[in-house]
Amino acid sequence: MKIGVFDSGYGGLTILNKISQRLPEYDYVYLGDNARTPYGTRSFEVIYAYTLQAVRYLEQQGCRLIIIACNTASAKALRTIQQHDIDPSRLRVLGVIRPTVEAVSKDARHVGILATPGTVSSESYVMELSKLNPDLAVTQQACPMWVPLIEAGEHRSMGADYFVQEYIDAILQKDNAIDTLILGCTHYPLLFDKIRKVVRPDIRIVAQGDIVAESLSDYLKRHSEIERDLTKGGQRTFLTTESVEKFQSSASIFLDAPIIAQHIELK
Ligand code: DGL
Repeated sequence: MKIGVFDSGYGGLTILNKISQRLPEYDYVYLGDNARTPYGTRSFEVIYAYTLQAVRYLEQQGCRLIIIACNTASAKALRTIQQHDIDPSRLRVLGVIRPTVEAVSKDARHVGILATPGTVSSESYVMELSKLNPDLAVTQQACPMWVPLIEAGEHRSMGADYFVQEYIDAILQKDNAIDTLILGCTHYPLLFDKIRKVVRPDIRIVAQGDIVAESLSDYLKRHSEIERDLTKGGQRTFLTTESVEKFQSSASIFLDAPIIAQHIELK
């Protein structure tokens, strides 16, 4: 059986990249719902329905474990799916918010969350962080232009410079004492260098790939009954709801390697 990795688009590839470097022996199926991205501006009902369709699809593909490599879907749909829609003895579904929060909550004092409007309005980061460390100051900033820029391959453009500056200025105006900035969307590591250039060097910028990879490795050590079921052929399969040509050319930017994808329909 395989490990499924799901995102609304290309962003989850930043997670798959790190997971498959850390745990290269397992077989992975990546599913990008590129035809319906972005999710970040959609309602709870729509994000939940789309995410559930993806989870069902990956289950049919033989996944025993699915990582929702999308903060928006983790914030809006994960808990309902875990509690109502799956049989945990056959399938486990994990998100990316909890491991991120666990990784930063001890060392930080003023945390900034950069995320999609959907993740921000869910307040998931604020709630999870304050459960682990009630003394943290948490400030959020929605960055609605970043995912569309990245999905369009415009993340290296001057337009991207403009929107990076705009949202960074906005969050630092709300709290100028931020010491840790969480890139709370799996697309945002593609803007890492631009963000690094415009924030003070003492601010720690946290991307999720290594954190999720570490947390998955730990999870598999703790759940040998799941680990045993996973096939170890080191294969990566890529599925997209968009055209295969478009996915393949854009995905190579995220993975630095050519890939072969298959088109699928989610319903
Ligand atoms: N990559 C997704 C996330 O981590 C968001 C993308 C979207 O808005 O569809 O939130």
